[in-house]
Amino acid sequence: MRVLEAEFAQGFIRLAQDGWDQGWHERNGGNLSYRVRPQEAESVKEELAPGEWLPIGASVPKLAGEYFLVTGTGRYFQNVARKPAESFGLIELDGKGENYRICWGLENNGRPTSELPSHLMNHEVKLEAASGRHRVIYHCHPVNTIALTFVLPLTDEAFTRELWEMMTECPVVFPEGVGVVDWMVPGGRDIAVATSELMKTYNVAIWAHHGMFCSGADFDETFGLMHTVEKAAAILVKVLSMQPYKRQTIQPEDFRQLAGDFRLELPEKFLYEKHGN
Ligand code: 13P
Ligand code: ZN
Repeated sequence: MRVLEAEFAQGFIRLAQDGWDQGWHERNGGNLSYRVRPQEAESVKEELAPGEWLPIGASVPKLAGEYFLVTGTGRYFQNVARKPAESFGLIELDGKGENYRICWGLENNGRPTSELPSHLMNHEVKLEAASGRHRVIYHCHPVNTIALTFVLPLTDEAFTRELWEMMTECPVVFPEGVGVVDWMVPGGRDIAVATSELMKTYNVAIWAHHGMFCSGADFDETFGLMHTVEKAAAILVKVLSMQPYKRQTIQPEDFRQLAGDFRLELPEKFLYEKHGN
């Protein structure tokens, strides 16, 4: 089978198009990776033509020998569906998890996203934290979430609580909360380490004044998580634009009741008493 006929490639393309349609990917903003199942890699073997080994820029030994679909650096989400073989590629990692080679796509001198260290270190953390269930890491630049990083304290507690309060379904969709990374230079190992540290606990990491990373089992779940967080952020931006305080909101005791009825574990560190709303 050809790569673009495979269901996993179709799912990758669809997420990219949906992200573009949401307005989360100006120019080359954002990137996406998918950890390919061995049988999926096997099914497209006829079309794979491995190139030279190149350094990842991070060490991910637990991912040795794995295949990934990744978007290209400088390539546009807008073009993923229109020019797929240029916009993303299939890469294979070496036996140490230190180098990769392009086996398909990234045509016209393409290279994987500059955030490859963050993607792969997140995948490596999720291999243990989510028992191998997670396969998708998605990064985008959504307006409302980024806007909040200018006005909320840059803490997991503040972001989680404020987002949870915006829609009753939020604590159901991300009961473990969200993590926040202070402003850092993107594209390198340091921000990858900070993000993957948060991914041990959360499925969402917000990068101050930059964007968001989400992790999930499949394309729908990961996109749905991003969508839910960004929608909650949009509601908060609207509320704060109308007046600087909430007249009423969901209270800690309400969250505890919800947790009981929905059998959720909502960490108490997010259910602190506030002075005002
Ligand atoms: P790439 O074009 O290298 O994927 O970078 C886009 C981006 O969002 C960096 O954080
Ligand atoms: Zn970015």
